[in-house]
Amino acid sequence: MSITSFNGGPSVGGRPKITTLTIEAKKQRHEQITCLTAYDYSTSRLVDEAGIDMILVGDSLAQVVLGYDSTLPVTLDEMLHHTRAVRRGVRSALLIADMPFGTYQGDDREGVRNAVRFVKESGAEAVKLEGGDKRVSLVRRMLDAEIPVMGHIGLTPQSVNKMGGYRVQGKDLAGVEQLIKDAIALDQAGVFSMVLEGVPREVAAMITKEVKCPTIGIGAGPDCDGQVLVLHDILGLTFAPPAKFVRRYGDAAALISNAVRQFKSDVEAGGYPSDDESYHLPKETREELDAILRRRQLKAYAR
Ligand code: KIV
Repeated sequence: MSITSFNGGPSVGGRPKITTLTIEAKKQRHEQITCLTAYDYSTSRLVDEAGIDMILVGDSLAQVVLGYDSTLPVTLDEMLHHTRAVRRGVRSALLIADMPFGTYQGDDREGVRNAVRFVKESGAEAVKLEGGDKRVSLVRRMLDAEIPVMGHIGLTPQSVNKMGGYRVQGKDLAGVEQLIKDAIALDQAGVFSMVLEGVPREVAAMITKEVKCPTIGIGAGPDCDGQVLVLHDILGLTFAPPAKFVRRYGDAAALISNAVRQFKSDVEAGGYPSDDESYHLPKETREELDAILRRRQLKAYAR
């Protein structure tokens, strides 16, 4: 990958390299920021080539790729493995890795050590962690270790047991107050952006006006500085009915299913592979082989 300095900013293969500074500048210019999840080489390459600003290796991979029913079981090693694959597909987008449950909730030193692993071993350029004012000291320690942090407040899936389910947050005054407190605390701690998930549109709009860093909404209405969605959700590659905020842009499940059924029926009917889809002997080898077979036939006839 060649990274050259161009107009003061790095450029990769003709496309600008997105950094945390690019993301912060977009808020100043009132330009919407785009973010999607990806979990492997081929999809991250497609997402990157489509010009999405940020690619998040979300711990949602626990559900959409690994088949767990929550994000809680995914391990640090699994997240590292997938982030490495995504790294190989991403050239321009900012690559963010999600810190999985249990890797930063204990003590700050352990959190920083695990974040360093994402940068060093998988090529992530930033990490995301869930939680508001209680994460302030950890965010500061991460920044001291030169690791940019994306915050994540509102409906934080790693807190599913404590929240008593996946519920929209900030629906009463106490909840609104807590969300605003969390957002301001993370902003002042120095996160370069924060995800607002599952919060009323009005609250997301207030936070977006209040904080310096860009807000990236998911189920938080259109007034955020950008939007993130899970790739499998927009592709229709999940097996449950989509959440209210998901817009489906494709039906990859139908595409895959039809292709697989077609393959099965072609093989079973003898229609695959065709002669054109087969390799053939070179002309000389075929002639030599024919000559050998003819000699054998003659010998057999003479006996
Ligand atoms: O894990 C994930 O995919 C996320 C996004 C939905 C923000 O955290």
